[in-house]
Amino acid sequence: MALPIFKLNLLHLFSISLFLFTSASISHSNSNDFCEAGALYGAAGCGISPPLSSAKLLIKGGTVVNAHHQEVADVYVQDGVIVTVRPNLKVGDDVQVLDATGKLVMPGGIDPHTHLAMEFMGTETIDDFFSGQAAALAGGTTMHIDFVIPVNGSLTAGIEAYERKAHKSCMDYGFHMAITKWDEDVSRDMEIMVKEKGINSFKFFLAYKGSLMISDELLLDGLKRCKSLGALAMVHAENGDAVFEGQNRMIELGITGPEGHALSRPPVLEAEATARAIRLASFVNTPLYVVHVMSIDAMEEIAKARKSGQKVVGEPVVSGLVLDDSKLWDPDFSIASKYVMSPPIRAPGHAKALQAALSTGILQLVGTDHCAFNSTQKAFGIDDFRKIPNGVNGIEERMHLVWDTMVETGQMSVTDYVRITSTECARIFNIYPRKGAILAGSDADIIIFNPNSSVGISARSHHSRTDTNVYEGRRGKGKVEVTIAGGRVVWINDELKVSPGSGKYVEMPPFNYLFSGVDKADDSYLASLNAPVKRSKSTRCRGEVDGLVSQVSQAGIVPEITLHHLPLGPSFREDGGVRRTAWTSTPFRFPLSELRNGLPPIIALSCHPEMVLWT
Ligand code: URP
Ligand code: ZN
Ligand code: ZN
Repeated sequence: MALPIFKLNLLHLFSISLFLFTSASISHSNSNDFCEAGALYGAAGCGISPPLSSAKLLIKGGTVVNAHHQEVADVYVQDGVIVTVRPNLKVGDDVQVLDATGKLVMPGGIDPHTHLAMEFMGTETIDDFFSGQAAALAGGTTMHIDFVIPVNGSLTAGIEAYERKAHKSCMDYGFHMAITKWDEDVSRDMEIMVKEKGINSFKFFLAYKGSLMISDELLLDGLKRCKSLGALAMVHAENGDAVFEGQNRMIELGITGPEGHALSRPPVLEAEATARAIRLASFVNTPLYVVHVMSIDAMEEIAKARKSGQKVVGEPVVSGLVLDDSKLWDPDFSIASKYVMSPPIRAPGHAKALQAALSTGILQLVGTDHCAFNSTQKAFGIDDFRKIPNGVNGIEERMHLVWDTMVETGQMSVTDYVRITSTECARIFNIYPRKGAILAGSDADIIIFNPNSSVGISARSHHSRTDTNVYEGRRGKGKVEVTIAGGRVVWINDELKVSPGSGKYVEMPPFNYLFSGVDKADDSYLASLNAPVKRSKSTRCRGEVDGLVSQVSQAGIVPEITLHHLPLGPSFREDGGVRRTAWTSTPFRFPLSELRNGLPPIIALSCHPEMVLWT
């Protein structure tokens, strides 16, 4: 196999030492070698091989599919950017040509939800920013957005840690940021993340009591802050307190295996938290993104909110779209435990409903929640399901499984496939049309997809570092034959050609399209309040008051006038004063003359604004 010559990227000098070890194109059939090669460069991960980089590239004769349109056209790429999309392009000899006749040329997938190198539940996800991304590229995904987890609540420490983790990236990536505590520093740092770090979304975990979970009070503070910054609020929607209760209930019942995971956090707890987050976002009037929608119950809450006009995005993940919970009951712990994720994979029926919601637009885009642990890590929970690290793989399988499940079954058009796997993510995170499109000026993140071929999925051949695969044994129609990332051919002939450090961080600006109209909605909300009611503080008591007005106050609708120290009048008090009370809200005449006996009254009164005090 021909090896291209390394081009050292001066911007990534850190990777020079890594290059010293080895270089090889790694094929699909020997992906274990790929992982072993990764071990050679210590922490960096799984495999290295330089990309086939040609500054000029022509993809010829394919059907170019965008979310809005498809046509037979050629795509000309130069220096990582799409220059022209037009039929019958003529180019010079210095251009690498890829024949795509009879195939689909589509934007590379964008995975909105991944956890690479995440410290979680006492361990760290097995795929880092190299091995996870290499796997993604082999499956046709060319960008992902990962969740930065703050360090002891600190956003700045969190981003620094993730910037280090991501040094070895071999494809483009962006960051969301989780918010795990609330104080002035966090509020200030959210602004820094948005304005200086290119983060435009913050995630709030309503579950994982004792670690990531936040309170409703924090959620409200966070929603308000997100709104003011133009950042998208995201929620992991499960009621963490109730999950805790459910877990205790299972343990008391002696259910300690992986099935206890599903039983302890039923759909009603997902629906409750989804509904709560939706209502609080409505109260604040800010857009909301619900991650990993796993149940009919949660999906219906989203459908209801969207129908009412609320800006709510629902993200199903591949596991929820294609799996059911039956494997959690498998007598073999190593099989059952690999399906443990949160919210849980649901009973048969939910997946089909989520697919329908996706095809009808109730749900908008598909993620993976790629959060891979190997079987040794999963075994931490052999005696107690609460200790099984939560998460499944999917970053490599998403594009194929969504095609097979949605397009191959006739539930979705090819253009809609592009929308839910790429374009909508780019729009929501405000990087369209740089990403998510095959247009002149877009980044050259492209796949060549053969709808007539097929792929099989197995831990033996996948590129993730994990030794298991929740989609083991599945075979589906359609195959990503070529992946081009940033103009580099990184996957071709079942071979990965990637090098650490070649991926770029993609900054994502705030105020995506979901924010348009928020200010107008705020205005009409304020107008609808019909408040504050203007109540005059001073009364219109006019005329001569024969005495000293000691107090004028507003005491509500019912006016009250009290006269003190008057010996005469219609009624007397024990202290010699007289009390006159006017139970009216219409102009009221209070004939002082009737009370006068030559002594100056001291008048303490609270008047209705329209009351007139006559002398
Ligand atoms: O089980 C899951 N989903 N693990 C990853 C963390 C999260 O909740 O997204
Ligand atoms: Zn989550
Ligand atoms: Zn997640």
